[in-house]
Amino acid sequence: MDQNDLTTEIRNKVDIVDIIGERIPLTAKGRNFFGVCPFHDDTNPSMSVSRDKQIYKCFSCGASGNVYTFLMNYEHKEFKEVLRDLGKRVGIHVSGVKVNKATTKYDSLYEAYRFAVKYYQNNLVSSYGKEAKEYLHYRGFSDAIIKEFQIGLSLLERQDLTTLLTTKQYDLTTLNQIGLSIDDRDTYVDRIMFPLQDSYGRVVGFSGRIYKDIEQSKYINTKETVIFKKGDCLYHYHAAIDAARISKSIIVMEGFMDVIRAFTIGLKNTVALMGTALTTEQLRLIKRLSRNVVLCLDGDEAGRHAALKIGQTLLDEGIESKVITLPNDDDPDSYILKNGKEKFLELIENAIFYSDYKIASLKENINFDSEEDLSSYINRVILETTKIDDEIRVEIILKKLAKDYNIGYNTLEKRFRDMKENSKPAPKIDVEKKVVKRRNKYILAMEQVIFHMLNHPWVIDLVEQEKMIFPSNETRLLTNEIIYFYRKNRSITIADFYTYLQDKTDLLSYLEKIVSTNILEDVTKEDLLAYFKVIKDYSKSQEIKRLERLMKKESDCLEQAKIVEQIRKLKLGEI
Ligand code: CTP
Ligand code: MN
Repeated sequence: MDQNDLTTEIRNKVDIVDIIGERIPLTAKGRNFFGVCPFHDDTNPSMSVSRDKQIYKCFSCGASGNVYTFLMNYEHKEFKEVLRDLGKRVGIHVSGVKVNKATTKYDSLYEAYRFAVKYYQNNLVSSYGKEAKEYLHYRGFSDAIIKEFQIGLSLLERQDLTTLLTTKQYDLTTLNQIGLSIDDRDTYVDRIMFPLQDSYGRVVGFSGRIYKDIEQSKYINTKETVIFKKGDCLYHYHAAIDAARISKSIIVMEGFMDVIRAFTIGLKNTVALMGTALTTEQLRLIKRLSRNVVLCLDGDEAGRHAALKIGQTLLDEGIESKVITLPNDDDPDSYILKNGKEKFLELIENAIFYSDYKIASLKENINFDSEEDLSSYINRVILETTKIDDEIRVEIILKKLAKDYNIGYNTLEKRFRDMKENSKPAPKIDVEKKVVKRRNKYILAMEQVIFHMLNHPWVIDLVEQEKMIFPSNETRLLTNEIIYFYRKNRSITIADFYTYLQDKTDLLSYLEKIVSTNILEDVTKEDLLAYFKVIKDYSKSQEIKRLERLMKKESDCLEQAKIVEQIRKLKLGEI
């Protein structure tokens, strides 16, 4: 039996309601079961589990999947382990199973990384590693910490790892593709190696740090590969899951050195962005860990700026984070080294709400002797308070403002109410809104089509009949996968489709989003044709825009005429 059949068979023999119900309490409501989602910090039953479809979805954090993905995420296991466990439960022996192609391909890549980790770790304890180890000790990292974070060392010899891996049947093309080699040489030379893990805890890349006084980039990171998307990575995410659940909070830092330092003082619910930008995927991961987010970025200008930006992004998602401010020349690592554990815990304890942080930042560069500056400052503070979801805090802020600047509380309160009122319809940004609306409509239409393709085979046929071409790459890839899956299996089941997609993490998170935000399954052919029209109209308007741009660049009259004709035809719907 190949693994696809086996996966389906085992899945059919267990009931997702039992499996999830054994771990979190579920209550039946109509045809579905509801419980508190374990993948983010919550107290409401926002996760629904469907017995008919054998899937779960959380309306709050957007997690969704089948019984395998649930167990992989809940028990932090790899797919094969979960398959084996469930197989055991229903009396099917799994080991020695022929693994399907897609899994083999990636599995061998993860294997190469596992090997590289061990190899680098060995180097660090060998005699070559003396200086690197001294450096790590000098920075205050013990052998236990070095082991915990699987820290290693790449050597001066430029071909050792590459040679070892090629004797293990890895070809150079693959090693180059996954970033371990450049041509026939090792990518990393004489650097302290920090393994980077994906959200399942698999090592998928490295960051290599210099440890001697040399003029080279401080860090070199693995390039983007099929298994490593830097923007999808949060350092220490997987290992922080349990600690975040227990402490009901997550601390976000810039660098992985900061996270390792925090770990040495017992703070294990920390992750690092590995820079100052927060990507959409990182945001999703953080939301899954906890809605109590503490931003603990570097004390410099860049760090403070990042705190403002990231805090705002979180606020837009309905999460009011807390922020700590470090002295200008410190990062969490250096602060802890200088001031010790207790002082740092105190800082975390005294972190302030993001909106208070934002309001405090507004004071910068204000000349309080100027009436104009002062009034603009006060208006901006009030504007910020309109975003706060807590009346008591709003009152405290306004009262303080009234006292500090000797302004009547009622005046401020009235301005507050006006602004709050105005911030709703926002008439000035009408044009912008329209664009957003149109874009949303077409994105929504694509999501609807995909959702229904997964639920009704006739929709897949209709998509093919109508020769639908989707204007977004992601959508095109996902629909192609659905069509392929359907052709191959002559049926479509969302629960199995999750397993099929499991190594395509980008598409998987897109799928999760679509499944978790859609509720109604009933759809008519007319509805679909209407969605198709929205999508086609959008494609057409994009094509017209493209031609118009082309036209501007074209100097040949004849060519110009051709383009005009094409635009005309498009507008009339002739092509
Ligand atoms: N970073 C990077 N490349 C660089 C500098 C930084 O990829 N040239 C990323 C790393 O992931 C690093 C994070 O940005 O963890 C934060 O950078 P920085 O604050 O400079 O690093 P520190 O954590 O302070 O590292 P160290 O204390 O070893 O200098
Ligand atoms: Mn540092």
